Amino acid sequence: MKIEKEEKQLTVLVLGGDGYLGWPTAMHFAARGHAVAIADNLQKRRMEEEVGGEPLFLRPTLQRRVKLWNSLNAGHYIALPPGNVIDIAQNGPALIDFILRFEPDVIIHYAEQPSAPYSMWSRSRAVNTVVNNSAGTLNVLFAIRELKRQNGKDAHLIKLGTMGEYGTPNIDIEEGWLEVEHNGRKDRLPFPKLPGSFYHASKVADSAYIEFACRAWGIRATDLNQGVVYGIDTAETTLHTDLVTSFHYDAVFGTALNRFIAQAVVEVPLTVYGKGGQTRGYLNIRDTLQCVALAAQSPPNAGEFRVFNQFTEQFSVLDLAEKVKRVGNTLGLIVVIDHIQNPRVEKEAHYYNPKHTGLLSLGLQPHLLTDEVITEMIQKVITAQKAIDRDVIAPRILWRPVEEAPSI
Ligand SMILES: NC(=O)c1ccc[n+]([C@@H]2O[C@H](COP(=O)([O-])OP(=O)(O)OC[C@H]3O[C@@H](n4cnc5c(N)ncnc54)[C@H](O)[C@@H]3O)[C@@H](O)[C@H]2O)c1
Repeated sequence: MKIEKEEKQLTVLVLGGDGYLGWPTAMHFAARGHAVAIADNLQKRRMEEEVGGEPLFLRPTLQRRVKLWNSLNAGHYIALPPGNVIDIAQNGPALIDFILRFEPDVIIHYAEQPSAPYSMWSRSRAVNTVVNNSAGTLNVLFAIRELKRQNGKDAHLIKLGTMGEYGTPNIDIEEGWLEVEHNGRKDRLPFPKLPGSFYHASKVADSAYIEFACRAWGIRATDLNQGVVYGIDTAETTLHTDLVTSFHYDAVFGTALNRFIAQAVVEVPLTVYGKGGQTRGYLNIRDTLQCVALAAQSPPNAGEFRVFNQFTEQFSVLDLAEKVKRVGNTLGLIVVIDHIQNPRVEKEAHYYNPKHTGLLSLGLQPHLLTDEVITEMIQKVITAQKAIDRDVIAPRILWRPVEEAPSI
């Protein structure tokens, strides 16, 4: 068992531990000797069927993956709750019960509906997104409060938010807080938010609930406003083919770079939305794990609502497409870029300067998006090329009705 000597050993609960980020996170902590448990309601697997967007690499059930991990002796065991699943939004009492028994030092909360297009698809899906994400976060906060009240234990909540909460204001974006002077008075206030979908708005609400719980109940929390994650492998997913994480390339769940890589491999045009000037923060999945681990090792003070902007580099969507085109061409693929009507309502030319020094100061060592990283991703996706469904990559969900959308 590999234990980093200087790391404080922790009891870690990963909510959403069956997901793209949650599963590698659970293994990452377990590999370092931390005691890990996962709670997930498996709703993502059902939603994949609903949108017809299954992940590219065959991914066994959560129970099988956990059993496999535990049999490999590659670190600490990963535990599941009684009955294997907990819906943290629908079943607050089960979550509280499990948290009181597992007594986590750290709760990493990934368990949300994470797709902006899904939340814009229909009324019911917008409602489900907001209800799922808000109710889940409130249940987690009440569970942390119960843990403190009944067991005297002060768990650290690490919550995954998104850079999309801020939108693209015409000023520098700070890490969560803004010093304001207004009519001669000064205050430090949460940075203003301009969410770009009902999904992003649900994350803004989460941040407000958590900040309030820190103030009201003395909870310690880290809100990680994460950029767009790309990548397939981590140190632990490569230990066995069945430990793979869910790589989505469809228009509903696939993120920009992951989508472009799949398009390049099957030689269909890379679909850049509009002019492609939308600039966002990006990070490698390996850095998501690093950031969460760094936050876990350096908890905030009781009552502190700490915010980090979690990304390592910023690119425009067109920058990304051009990188994939160039690397794909070098590998002998015929890659072309297509500008299609932007299904979203967002600025395509804008100022973007978010700060992101907090995690670097904790020791983050970024894995940058080099040509080698893109080459590795393309080569890995080529191994599953036959499974790529070209029909699920083009966007079908529009932010506003067709008759209102501008043409490009
Ligand atoms: N992937 C990214 O690029 C990215 C970027 C910024 C923020 N985030 C945030 O990070 C988190 C994880 O993202 P991901 O890409 O791994 O998503 P994912 O959908 O792969 O994982 C989320 C997991 O949570 C589970 N879940 C959802 N609602 C639940 C509930 N009520 N009870 C129990 N489990 C529930 C799902 O079944 C799924 O396994 C999300 O909160 C997302 O908003 C992701």
